[in-house]
Amino acid sequence: MNQLPPDARNPTLESAYQLLRDAEVRYRGHTVGTVASLDERAPAENYADCFIRDFVPSGLVYLLNDEPEVVRDFLALILQIRDTQEEIEGHRRLPRVMPASFRVFTDENGRESLAADFGDRAIGRVAPVDSMMWWVLLLRAYQNRTGDDAFIKSADVQRGIRLILSICLQDRFEVFPTLLVPDGSFMIDRRMGVFGHPLEIQALFYGMLKASLAMLEPCDKDSELLCEQSAIRTRQLSDYIRNYYWLDLERLNDIHRYRTEHFGHESENALNIYPESIPDWLVDWIPSESGYLVGNLGPGRMDFRFFSFGNLLAVLFGLADEHQSRSIMQTFEQRFEDLIGTMPVKICYPAMVGEEWRLLTGSDPKNTPWSYHNGGNWPALLWAFTGAAMRVGRPDLARSVHAVAAERLHRDHWPEYYDGRHGRLVGRRANYRQTWSATAVLVSQGLIDNPETLSLFDSPEPEVP
Ligand code: GLC
Repeated sequence: MNQLPPDARNPTLESAYQLLRDAEVRYRGHTVGTVASLDERAPAENYADCFIRDFVPSGLVYLLNDEPEVVRDFLALILQIRDTQEEIEGHRRLPRVMPASFRVFTDENGRESLAADFGDRAIGRVAPVDSMMWWVLLLRAYQNRTGDDAFIKSADVQRGIRLILSICLQDRFEVFPTLLVPDGSFMIDRRMGVFGHPLEIQALFYGMLKASLAMLEPCDKDSELLCEQSAIRTRQLSDYIRNYYWLDLERLNDIHRYRTEHFGHESENALNIYPESIPDWLVDWIPSESGYLVGNLGPGRMDFRFFSFGNLLAVLFGLADEHQSRSIMQTFEQRFEDLIGTMPVKICYPAMVGEEWRLLTGSDPKNTPWSYHNGGNWPALLWAFTGAAMRVGRPDLARSVHAVAAERLHRDHWPEYYDGRHGRLVGRRANYRQTWSATAVLVSQGLIDNPETLSLFDSPEPEVP
């Protein structure tokens, strides 16, 4: 990015653009990504990598700033990197997943090489399931912005989409339409009790299926079958999430009085959730007039925590229905202190403490109560908040939340996250100059200034065969 766009006259936006430019990763003479953080004192070595998920708001800025070639080069490079993945000895050859992150190394002779992390080097060896979903979603945003169908229809890109669909639609042991994943397989990439069917993965899965259906050419029997299966799964997934993940006071009342141990199709408590598992904080916290999608659901297990990103993405991609979408944004408004506080957006509410923290995080000192993934506040989520608020016709809410973030972030040198119940402290181990904290503000500003930008995330409703 060589030029400052005209709207960068404001010092906050100017500083955000500067950070983006400083973070650029170059390969063979082109910009192909952005590093996660420019903080030299970052606590982990891989913050100097380009993460797929962190690049998404950067990519959206390039699209809005009419530099789509950066996004195209990034998308093409990730396909290339995916094919370099090593096989684990003894494992059958599987369709390859997308990396969590990559880096470009330059030797003393100026020769460049690429190194990627497919979860095999990541802290805790977590599987980056979200990377492939974000890749498809960014590809769709690129198509919506540029109309470059030639790139979308190219053999490599079509093969990329097909491989992702076949990984996600493989037969499994599951009886649910939701996608089963291990702990820490998305933005929350550490043990946090988010194994199973976390909402964020389901929202990404749904958005990815719809976007793939809009882009995949049904050119042979295999692709036709994938399209058919994707369309059916999209419908099953949204029916299931809208019904079983939805929680409001009325539903809580039902759960409170659920009968258990019922066999057969007719049971109202199909997952055998025990009323005793309703946590104390929830009864007084849940607003009387609105609701949200719960964080996770499985046999005998409802994770009642409020996960912001999953809820926001469910609104943005239309996984939540219209009533639910408005209601989710109302919950943010009615629980502003808890979910926005002094820095949008709280990653999950409430924090886990005591024994629960010890058992579910494995005593993780970074995820102590109200810090980092365990109830910290993450500015990187701002763009999704703004997008979701605009989607339900609440630009006023988008503007007021954006205003809470922008200037403080600039003043604080773009921290990665904030600590405390209301996000008043800069995160204890947070990096400064975190790229997606800055790009989130830029995308959010773009959405507020030009609401039609929301169409970047559009995909038509699939027709179910
Ligand atoms: C941390 C975050 C993850 C992010 C990465 C790079 O690991 O948990 O979501 O992608 O940092 O910023």
